[in-house]
Amino acid sequence: MPLSLDVLATPVLRCLHHIRLSRIIGMLLVILIVIPLITHWYLGSVDGTNQRHDLPGVDSPGIFQDMDPKELRHHVHELHRIKSSVSNELLELESKRQRLQGSISHYNGEVEQAKVELETARNELNALKLQLRQTQKELEETMEAHRPRVAQPHRILPSEDDNVLIAPPASSSSCRQHTCFDYSRCSLTSGFPVYVYPTEDSIFPLDSYIQDVTLSSLEQNLYLSSNPATACVYVVIVGTLASRLGAKDMERKLTSLPYWRGDGRNHLLVNIARDYSAENVLRNIETGRAMVVQSEFVFSQYRAGFDIVIPPVFTWEAGRDAFDSIPPQVPAHRKHLFSFIGEKDSAGVIVSEKGELFYNDASSNRRGAAGEMDVLADLVAIENNDDDNLLVKVTCGGDSVRGLRGEWQLCGKPQERQQVLRESTFSIIIVAASSVLSSVLTTVRLYESLKYGAVPVILGEQVQLPFSEVIDWQQAAFVFPLARVSELHFFLRTVSDSDLLRMRRQGRFLWETYLSSPQAVLNTVLSVVRTRISIPPKTVPEEPSPTVYNEDTYPLLLEEVEPISETGMEFGPVEPPYDSPKFLRNFTTSVVDKHTLWNSFPGPFYLYPYLPSDPVLPSEAKFMGSGLGFRPINKGSGGAGKEFQESLGGNVPREQFTIVMLTYERESVLINSLQRLIGLPYLNKVLVVWNSPNLPSEDLRWPDIGVPIVVIRTKKNSLNNRFLPYDVIETEAILSIDDDAHLRHDEILFGFRVWREARDRVVGFPGRFHAWDGSHQSWLYNSNYSCELSMVLTGAAFFHKYYAYLYSYVMPQVIRDKVDEYLNCEDIAMNFLVSHITRKPPIKVTSRWTFRCPGCPQALSHDDSHFQERHKCINYFVQVYGYMPLLNTQFRVDSVLFKTRLPHDKQKCFKFI
Ligand SMILES: *[C@@H]1O[C@H](CO)[C@@H](O)[C@H](O)[C@H]1NC(C)=O
Ligand SMILES: *[C@@H]1O[C@H](CO)[C@@H](O)[C@H](O)[C@H]1NC(C)=O
Repeated sequence: MPLSLDVLATPVLRCLHHIRLSRIIGMLLVILIVIPLITHWYLGSVDGTNQRHDLPGVDSPGIFQDMDPKELRHHVHELHRIKSSVSNELLELESKRQRLQGSISHYNGEVEQAKVELETARNELNALKLQLRQTQKELEETMEAHRPRVAQPHRILPSEDDNVLIAPPASSSSCRQHTCFDYSRCSLTSGFPVYVYPTEDSIFPLDSYIQDVTLSSLEQNLYLSSNPATACVYVVIVGTLASRLGAKDMERKLTSLPYWRGDGRNHLLVNIARDYSAENVLRNIETGRAMVVQSEFVFSQYRAGFDIVIPPVFTWEAGRDAFDSIPPQVPAHRKHLFSFIGEKDSAGVIVSEKGELFYNDASSNRRGAAGEMDVLADLVAIENNDDDNLLVKVTCGGDSVRGLRGEWQLCGKPQERQQVLRESTFSIIIVAASSVLSSVLTTVRLYESLKYGAVPVILGEQVQLPFSEVIDWQQAAFVFPLARVSELHFFLRTVSDSDLLRMRRQGRFLWETYLSSPQAVLNTVLSVVRTRISIPPKTVPEEPSPTVYNEDTYPLLLEEVEPISETGMEFGPVEPPYDSPKFLRNFTTSVVDKHTLWNSFPGPFYLYPYLPSDPVLPSEAKFMGSGLGFRPINKGSGGAGKEFQESLGGNVPREQFTIVMLTYERESVLINSLQRLIGLPYLNKVLVVWNSPNLPSEDLRWPDIGVPIVVIRTKKNSLNNRFLPYDVIETEAILSIDDDAHLRHDEILFGFRVWREARDRVVGFPGRFHAWDGSHQSWLYNSNYSCELSMVLTGAAFFHKYYAYLYSYVMPQVIRDKVDEYLNCEDIAMNFLVSHITRKPPIKVTSRWTFRCPGCPQALSHDDSHFQERHKCINYFVQVYGYMPLLNTQFRVDSVLFKTRLPHDKQKCFKFI
């Protein structure tokens, strides 16, 4: 360590210098004081003063008195000679002393150097010991982790030509999951293979729209199997035209299905309504053990936990891009507090011109009808009261769609209803009658209300909303008994804006994910059955990572790279690469997290290798039986800087991070940045995303930084590549940095440690915010220094790999398109996505505000058009999400002992942050 020796040697030299000076001063004093004294004494004697002094070399006092001047002069000369000989001697002594002093300081230097060497050796020994302890621990853990697990159970399957007739249940109406479902076809590890009967020569007549829709939706379905022998579930598309067949005819056709096996076990009869005219064709039909999937059910027919309510799919909605027809979610309150437009089916009740009600259907259930009468009376009363600008109309006066007998008709064309719903805070939906669980018109009203952001208020608590087995509709809609109609107005006035907007946002999510398209509906149906039988979903896709180098082109190595220490500190041992364990919760997530998975973004359709929300152990479990992978600080007894740097600590097992660096034709800047990573602890791998169509120059030399550097070839120059979930990323933590980012090791490691405690957030360095532009009533992107921020730039930020999957596969395509159009804004898009999901702002660490390397060529982010695009991006993304997901934060994170006064024997966690 030549550098620190120099530093240490300086004080020693300074010290020696000091000693020499004092000696010389002493010598001078002798010369200046003693000699004049002698002279004085002598002269004094001459003057007759009687002072006597012992003088070396002078035999006796008084001797001079008898001397004549000549002799005296001689004597003085003699004295002068003595003086000069003495001073010569002194000079000689002094130079001798200096020589000795020189060798002393030389030896001192050597002692100091030896001390330094000893210290270095001791440190190295400690580091080695630490590494040894770690390796030992790792070895123990590897052995533990590789204990033989319970083998996967074999799939139990009936023999392929199994056609044994099992007696169907006494009546299909007594079917429930536990009595009628054949679990033997669907083992946990089967992957849920689904066989769909071909729709071309279906046993039921299908119109071409339904045929196209099912074909195109199911083609993309991940569970589709072409092997009916081993399938778990069989799908039969029924379609509206089936109503032309008689009941007997239908039953005959069902039993003749090739895999019906006598009782229709594990069959899903999917009766898709393509418009309002769908009929309950499967009512009063013997469906054996098959499950019925449709929009309309009466009480006596619906088998809870077995049948599935679905929304209709609409011809007129096909192929529309959702977001630009959807109104913004804010302001919370719209023109009408609530709206209801409908007309009571004349088979039940007649409303006179004066608003009087006549009950006119002798055959219908009197009790139920009386309830309806009250409702109507209350509605009419509301209609005549126009406080709060309520919109209630109980006659259509134009287009109308009839539903079930006695059901409120749907008024107007879709565009007219849309207009009303866009202006309504709440929308009232009345369930047909107490004997009806769900109807086409109810689901149409629900669908339209959710889409246009009018929070549904459903009267009729018996209602079964679509997929209610898994969707928690309470978070997006109010469901009341009919009897509450007169209290509705009061209740709805008490709903706070924040609840209202949360419900509207949740409604938008449910609509988009489960109802908005035929694909969504069919995927959801299959996922409901899959969830019911606890089979995990398909694994989320990973992005392949082709490298720019192939067998013929080898990357060249850069020789002699010295590690750069910017802080003069060590930050823990450099470990061998250690990948985050993945897929540990395949079977538990879809059971334990079922409610969360279904009721929050992105829904239940994929299995992820890990989630930021994976549960955390209680502290003592680390020390009592569940400590695999944990690295508690100082074995759990804690400590300051020294102990802190030795172990990762925290609440989750040890892990590493991957650096993803996007680069575009700035080779020297890139290589320089890579070199700076040498010796960075906890670094697993570096991905260089080569965004240029040109390959790296042939003589480009890559530094050996101790971990793999993977240089990935991209399909096109896109900033979205920064967030692709590449399969070579083997850690949960991703550090995304620009090729010109200049971060010190301590900053990176501190960021990593912070992220480990906030795994669902973006954790990074440069803060930005969204500012309200009052004059244009829109948002502006702002990068000025500010005490409040809402975005952290992904040019230097940690995030969970989970968000890379979501950004690439679940976030709306229009956002990625906008990023490509501007070649800008990918960092804004990521911040929007994460805040949308978590409803939390990002976390800013340390005081650093910029991160670019000094002197690097200016990035394009400095010109004005780049800035203008960022304003546009923000407002566009707000339009896509329907609201502004970003949230403000006013704090930043520094390490615990930063700026704390410490006793001398304690070290800071980090010196500078
Ligand atoms: C969990 O799923 C993953 C991905 O499909 C698979 O590789 C892994 O073996 C599964 N784990 C278990 C215990 O079945
Ligand atoms: C940043 O601050 C400067 C002066 O403090 C101001 O002129 C400029 O408009 C601000 N920029 C933005 C985007 O607000």
